[in-house]
Amino acid sequence: MSQSTDPASSFLKDQVGIDENLHAGIFVALQTVYGKQIEVSHLKSFGIEGLKALAESVKLEQRDRPRSNHRPFKMIHFRIPHHKSAFDLPWRLGDSILDVAKSPDGALLLGEYMEGTCGGQKSCCTCHVYLDEKLLSLVPPPDKGELDMLDLAYEPNMESRLGCQIRLTPDLLQQIDNDSPVTVTIPADVNNVWT
Ligand code: FES
Repeated sequence: MSQSTDPASSFLKDQVGIDENLHAGIFVALQTVYGKQIEVSHLKSFGIEGLKALAESVKLEQRDRPRSNHRPFKMIHFRIPHHKSAFDLPWRLGDSILDVAKSPDGALLLGEYMEGTCGGQKSCCTCHVYLDEKLLSLVPPPDKGELDMLDLAYEPNMESRLGCQIRLTPDLLQQIDNDSPVTVTIPADVNNVWT
């Protein structure tokens, strides 16, 4: 049984037998038909055979991408509670969470939520996210510059971090379980203090 909390991902994995690494690409493809939030009912109406064919094309597309995209990765489960949306995206070795949002699939799903205005200089708050307890315990604590910026973010709490400062290091890669993606939650609004 899948440990994913996203019903659409669980359906793809448990009912159709599609590998989790292909889910984000499938959701992006289906969004052109069904809109931003993919529901299990959408998947069912696409049909099992249709989903399997789509998975094959996503697999081929992933295989043909530039070599840099074949870096090892872990999955991040993104939650956007104020839009009742959730999906998984790959987090590649060396990338920050903001880099995930800037990737081709991430830009479609997260572009409007994580602008990254200052380009990772800890000067804008537009990459503010909430990390789950597990990820929070695995990453180094914020430095003074990040803390100062988090003070200015929209509704910061103890789980707040700047997405541009959280990178998938080799250590972190080993500590995150493939069957249990870490969860990153998008705040309900954004303060942009970039000047
Ligand atoms: S991108 Fe500006 S603080 Fe992270």
